[in-house]
Amino acid sequence: MIYLKSREEIKIMNRANQIVLKVLDVLEERIRPGVRTKELDRISEDITVKEGGIPAFKNYHGYPASLCVSVNDEVVHGIPSDRVLKEGDIVSLDFGVLYQGYYGDAARTCPVGEIALEDEKLINVTKKSLEAGIKQVKEGAKISDISKAIEDYVVKNGFSVVRDFVGHGIGKNLHEEPQVPNFYTEKPTYPIKCGMVLAIEPMVNAGSSEVLIEKDGWTVKTKDGERSAHFEYSVAVVEDGPIVLGVSNL
Ligand code: MF3
Ligand code: CO
Repeated sequence: MIYLKSREEIKIMNRANQIVLKVLDVLEERIRPGVRTKELDRISEDITVKEGGIPAFKNYHGYPASLCVSVNDEVVHGIPSDRVLKEGDIVSLDFGVLYQGYYGDAARTCPVGEIALEDEKLINVTKKSLEAGIKQVKEGAKISDISKAIEDYVVKNGFSVVRDFVGHGIGKNLHEEPQVPNFYTEKPTYPIKCGMVLAIEPMVNAGSSEVLIEKDGWTVKTKDGERSAHFEYSVAVVEDGPIVLGVSNL
């Protein structure tokens, strides 16, 4: 079932995502060698509550924290811990907020101090692949147009797209239909309609696309130990095209 959102609902979701992006901005500012990933989790909660939201991931299917922090070869769903960030690490932050009954969800990968050129490229290609996907968002296009644009951009740049996790619709639920894969599939996909809100979230690996889940039951890692990056925005479809939620006032 796909729930289309009214202009009013999209406004509320914009506010939810403003809180998400504020949290990510502050965390990005704080990230440096010596910081523990647990400290970032605490900061994300404090800001969210101050802004009138609720951290969305905490207890979601039993997830034990508010923030997902995935370092280096960790792809997504890394659990904040006593781990200390080091110069040269890359850190994927993924955060969600529940605000007035609606969810916001966004992610980005940040450098810790000076990073290798290859890691910088991985981050840039992932970010640009999200932008390429967002460009496809318009009434009448298909979800698979988003998927294909992301995959083509990533593959052209020599990296691979994770296939075990996908983007998703978002609204009164954190995850709604339709699924938004970051790779082309033969499966018939939905036409994009005004009122859809899509969390588009390419996860890009420097090496092979294969991943595994750690013994903690959450942390997703690359199988080959190579690094991974992740960018996500919640994007609303309106008559004029896509609105990247949280970026400006509606
Ligand atoms: N942010 C993830 C997503 O985009 C969801 C995290 S679920 C959690 O789909 F349980 F790990 F929090
Ligand atoms: Co998401």
